[in-house]
Amino acid sequence: MEYTVMLPAAGSGRRMGAGENKLFLPLAGKPILARTLSVFQQDPDCAGIILAVRPDERDRIREMLADHGITKVTAMPDGGGERQDSVRACVRAFMDSGSADDAVVMVHDAARPFLSRRVIRELAETVREHGAAIAAVPSKDTVKQVADGVVEDTPDRSTVWLVQTPQAFRAGLLAEAEEKALSEGFLGTDESMLVERLGHPVRVVESTYDNLKMTTKVDLAIGEALLKRQEE
Ligand code: CTP
Ligand code: MG
Repeated sequence: MEYTVMLPAAGSGRRMGAGENKLFLPLAGKPILARTLSVFQQDPDCAGIILAVRPDERDRIREMLADHGITKVTAMPDGGGERQDSVRACVRAFMDSGSADDAVVMVHDAARPFLSRRVIRELAETVREHGAAIAAVPSKDTVKQVADGVVEDTPDRSTVWLVQTPQAFRAGLLAEAEEKALSEGFLGTDESMLVERLGHPVRVVESTYDNLKMTTKVDLAIGEALLKRQEE
């Protein structure tokens, strides 16, 4: 099932503390961003990649694309101050290229290089029928809602899922959700929240626990260990 992927890559990696955008850091010798791009480059169902970048990193990223044989990037809009701004730049680039409202698009954090093809396929199939589908895993831990250091509530763990990317949508639905959020000044932490605000149901596709976001140093160590395991 054909889809276009939108990769926000215009962050700064503050929590990684590497002094530069964490996406340039190597994982077993290959930059995180190049690893994520390669997954989509190699997926025959992926029709194109839209990559939101920081203007000052544009040249360096172009070089990376060439070095790693990434040929599917169709647009590289400037990212914005918040992740949501960067995703909106991708959505606009996609819609401005005359793409159909019912095309399937996926938003995926450039910082998650370990996503699986099986999950991509299931998301694409689910979104065809239902319009919106996100990757998530059941929570292994009990989750508490806390305010001022005191527990306020404990949701029933069997209903708690930890959400990842990719998040897949019918393009027109995502574009509508992004514009509504912008006009109402709503800032979400994922795209699903914006679509939920339209009242549209969002389906959940069970993903894998190794689809980690490289966020702090410990994630790099786990990432290296995962790659070693794949080699064995
Ligand atoms: N991102 C983006 N534009 C922003 C902020 C984030 O495109 N203004 C991207 C990041 O590059 C990353 C993805 O969104 O691929 C997920 O964000 P996160 O893991 O939070 O990355 P950073 O924002 O770079 O890290 P931090 O929050 O620690 O600064
Ligand atoms: Mg961030």
